[in-house]
Amino acid sequence: MISKASIDTVFETARVEEVIGDFVNLKRAGSNLKGLSPFSNEKSPSFMVSPVKQIWKDFSSGKGGNAVAFLMEHEHFTYPEAIRYLAKKYNIELEETEQTEQDKEQANEKESMYLVSEFAQKYFQNTLLNTDEGQAIGYSYFKERGFTGDTIKKFGLGYSPEEWDAFTKEALGKAYKLEYLDKTGFTIVREDGRHIDRFRGRVMFPIQSMSGRVLGFGGRILGNDKKAAKYLNSPESDIYHKSKVLYGIYHAKQAIAKLDNCYLVEGYTDVIQFHQAGIENTVASSGTALTPDQIRLINRLTKNITVLFDGDAAGLRASIRGIDLILEEGMNVKVCAFPDGEDPDSFAKKTPHDELVAYLNDNAKDFIQFKAGLLMDEAKNDPVKKAGLIRDMVTSISKIPDRIQREIYIQECARIMDISEQVLSSTLAQLVQKDVADAGKKMKEEQRENAMRPVYDDEMMPPDEQYRNEEVNSLDGIEKAIVDALLKYGHVEDEFEDSYIKFDEFGVEKLVKEKKMCRVYERIYMNILEDEIEFSNTLFKGLYDELIYKSYALTEKRAFSINDVSQDLQGFATELYMEDEKYLLSGWEEKQSIPVRLKVDTIVEHVDQLILDLRWRLMDKYIASLISQVLPDADNDEIMLQIRDNQVFINKVSEKLGRIRVRKLNV
Ligand code: CTP
Ligand code: MN
Repeated sequence: MISKASIDTVFETARVEEVIGDFVNLKRAGSNLKGLSPFSNEKSPSFMVSPVKQIWKDFSSGKGGNAVAFLMEHEHFTYPEAIRYLAKKYNIELEETEQTEQDKEQANEKESMYLVSEFAQKYFQNTLLNTDEGQAIGYSYFKERGFTGDTIKKFGLGYSPEEWDAFTKEALGKAYKLEYLDKTGFTIVREDGRHIDRFRGRVMFPIQSMSGRVLGFGGRILGNDKKAAKYLNSPESDIYHKSKVLYGIYHAKQAIAKLDNCYLVEGYTDVIQFHQAGIENTVASSGTALTPDQIRLINRLTKNITVLFDGDAAGLRASIRGIDLILEEGMNVKVCAFPDGEDPDSFAKKTPHDELVAYLNDNAKDFIQFKAGLLMDEAKNDPVKKAGLIRDMVTSISKIPDRIQREIYIQECARIMDISEQVLSSTLAQLVQKDVADAGKKMKEEQRENAMRPVYDDEMMPPDEQYRNEEVNSLDGIEKAIVDALLKYGHVEDEFEDSYIKFDEFGVEKLVKEKKMCRVYERIYMNILEDEIEFSNTLFKGLYDELIYKSYALTEKRAFSINDVSQDLQGFATELYMEDEKYLLSGWEEKQSIPVRLKVDTIVEHVDQLILDLRWRLMDKYIASLISQVLPDADNDEIMLQIRDNQVFINKVSEKLGRIRVRKLNV
């Protein structure tokens, strides 16, 4: 765990405009900066950064927040990853809490292993580009495979010379410890004490994490020596877990999120060739079936996955088995096979971009339909096989978490396999029943995980979207305005007027007005409390509760900033902060008259107006509910009386608000 103090330092140091400036081209626009949204393909800028408020807002997608939220959204970092990224950028040393000596040692050890791997990547690449052997053997090999110089650099490809210990010697000479060379597997320490390089005379493919760190390597032999393994990979280690990484994810993540689909291939070269062909949403499982961890990595970016198969039938059958796992994660799976004898690498190499895209679009088939069709061909005239096939299909379908989607697939399959829906449904029911216990357990785990997930996780709607989707009611606008005032001017102290009824010594009613200094948040809180008002919109209520609590807890007198707001409400707070700025985009202010902005010198009137307005609307709602209770042929005297009393009150408030309320009573 990173200590709270360290996180605070990161927040205080990081400048949102600098952080975003590394990814988006920003131009000055008044006190703000604007640029093209990195989350959509747009021609006129709708992306805004406020250096003053330290927030950003993307008006095209509705996303927004602070520097950390940007990194989580754009780089798909987890919260700690974003903090670590910023710490690195600003040279802040992070302090870890609750770390035992052993934890510390382990963290240092891992860091050392990362550094060795980074050094290795530079060494192999340098050997490839700047030595005679590297050029003659490694570079020419990549060229022959059709990789351009840019591609070679982008993927950090390299070459390890044909010597016993060239790399080990170099690394030891640069003071990297043998211990870490051993733990990362670059060096094999033999019993006789000799140090030997694991990778010799191979072209090197660095394997990077989602955030771009080098975790390990795949090294390919040159030529076709049938005895030696074609690829030699880094061994499992504290930093490299084969089952948790996807080759190419670092370079593909942006495109996967943007295009909302991920192509899955088998090998290093398939990924590279696809990227070079302009299809960047491509990753590889590195020759094995996808693991749940790998699927979850993709799931952070998209719900859609297209598995690409080599042309041969044997590979196809083997790969199909792993796909149920992807369905289990609730993803939509498509499959696409290449012509006989082709793999993604060879096909992409010889096919022009447009044709390749068209091929993928035309040949990607829904997995369930594909599987049913494929197996049907084999089992058509064999009842025993067909029975097995039905169970097989239903098993796949039972993995899909969404009930409606399962239903649709049942219908599809019944049609393809020429069997009644009923048979399929009852088989499914049996299977699902069996799974129910497990599923329940899994769901609980997921909920726990979700609670700890970053705010803008893909499957979660951003908060501002949530309230847009909630039933629109007339209270929304006013509740939002109250939270808005609280956020921006809650700390302001000003003179507010209270009026109440007093009885003098003769028992005569007298309206007394009294002026009192108080803070805006106190004014709002006391009034809302007095009227026993609960916000109807859960999002506004969330931010309201939090701001009130923090207002009372805050010792200094200062305005809130985005970092005072808890993470899951930052998106909404950003929207409030940036509402005014929206009009500055694309010269709006010249075309329209800007709506009245909330200003500090009118805060007293503004707040009192809001409170009154809220009361009025609630009364109005109450009256409406009374009216709805009026029955045509019944004694309604009681209700009518209540309606009249309330109407009298609301008229008084209306007067103050300068509004006239007319409601026709159709009774
Ligand atoms: N693989 C491996 N070890 C092997 C063979 C394969 O780790 N001995 C993994 C590699 O990640 C490889 C992937 O499985 O990229 C797919 O294997 P294959 O299709 O044989 O390799 P390609 O990437 O197609 O390599 P090339 O085109 O260079 O033959
Ligand atoms: Mn290949």
